[in-house]
Amino acid sequence: MQLLRLQNSGTVPLNEEQKNAVTYKNGPLLIIAGAGTGKTTVIATRIVWLILSNQIKPEEILALTFTDKAAEEMEERVDRLLPYGYVDLWISTFHSFAERILKQHAIDIGLPDNFKLLNQTEQNFLIRRNFDRFNLDYYRPLGNPTKFIQAMIKHFSRAKDEEIWPEDYLEYAEGLKLDRDIEMSNVKCQISNENEIKRINEIANAYHVYQQLLLENSALDFGDLINYTLKLFRTRPQILEKYKKQFKYILIDEFQDTNWAQYELIKFLGAPKNNITVSFDDDQSIYKFRGASVSNVMQFKKDYSKAKQIVLIKNYRSKQNILDLAYNFIQKNNPNRLEWQLKNNQ
Ligand SMILES: Nc1ncnc2c1ncn2[C@@H]1O[C@H](COP(=O)(O)OP(=O)(O)OP(=O)(O)O)[C@@H](O)[C@H]1O
Ligand SMILES: [Mg+2]
Repeated sequence: MQLLRLQNSGTVPLNEEQKNAVTYKNGPLLIIAGAGTGKTTVIATRIVWLILSNQIKPEEILALTFTDKAAEEMEERVDRLLPYGYVDLWISTFHSFAERILKQHAIDIGLPDNFKLLNQTEQNFLIRRNFDRFNLDYYRPLGNPTKFIQAMIKHFSRAKDEEIWPEDYLEYAEGLKLDRDIEMSNVKCQISNENEIKRINEIANAYHVYQQLLLENSALDFGDLINYTLKLFRTRPQILEKYKKQFKYILIDEFQDTNWAQYELIKFLGAPKNNITVSFDDDQSIYKFRGASVSNVMQFKKDYSKAKQIVLIKNYRSKQNILDLAYNFIQKNNPNRLEWQLKNNQ
């Protein structure tokens, strides 16, 4: 079997659970595992298994993860496992994937196809350069606005993680005004409510101005990449259909770091077959502070109640870490150790 061939090509022998995950046929699959238990190994081997044993073309598999480093690692492993000549793999970060889609379809959604992607420094600069466009009162910074601008950018980014557009935010802020009328009889409550309404309206307006500035400058931020792709798929069903057809299998490594908007993207692309494999490691949620969290996995279980669940327990990496640590520790016993004696007294 192909898998055995894979195992003989310089890769690790898979344990039983890993094998089950690699060769799981169709439908949603949730791999729950701790650090160093072989999540990336399984995802990479599964991609190769799909290609070599199931005649799935490389371009029919979409494999996503969160950081550039993780995406590179996955691509490298798949590359090593595949025989020569397999190209056009869609292994990348969520953001690069969305960028690739948007570069092809910018025009379908009213974006310039030469859009610039802004990093945080550039976002900061854009706001600073146009600071007078932000009609700030509650949030007017007293001194140097740098920290304040950073907080604002973070807030907009959080909104984008949850696919909240400026118009949604403004609508929400408008709605709060109605609440104020209801509160009229309670004067004390009205005052604090008014302040709160003012604050929220101001930030909603600032978000709107920021988004305008991006558009005026043919610029997108990272959150936009995902949200415009979602918008594209929502408003251009024929384009969504094309990609749905293309991606027969979707695999996500480090699913715990996926935010709401990214997960939405996966659900869109995966339906109705839902050949979606996710690896989940709760202990490593480095992006928890950005709206990604354990709730993803709860949601996944809810969305795909029939999902197969495989738990990987055996930790291979730590074992080596501990061995290394222990090894370094026992070096302190030199020259009383046999190894040292053998090496130095020949
Ligand atoms: N069945 C196995 N036998 C021996 N070594 C293995 C096995 N599975 C994985 N490994 C090795 O264990 C290490 C960790 O594997 P891998 O990177 O796939 O785990 P991970 O769960 O993705 O780790 P991380 O939590 O760091 O993302 C790698 O060096 C890999 O080659
Ligand atoms: Mg990994």
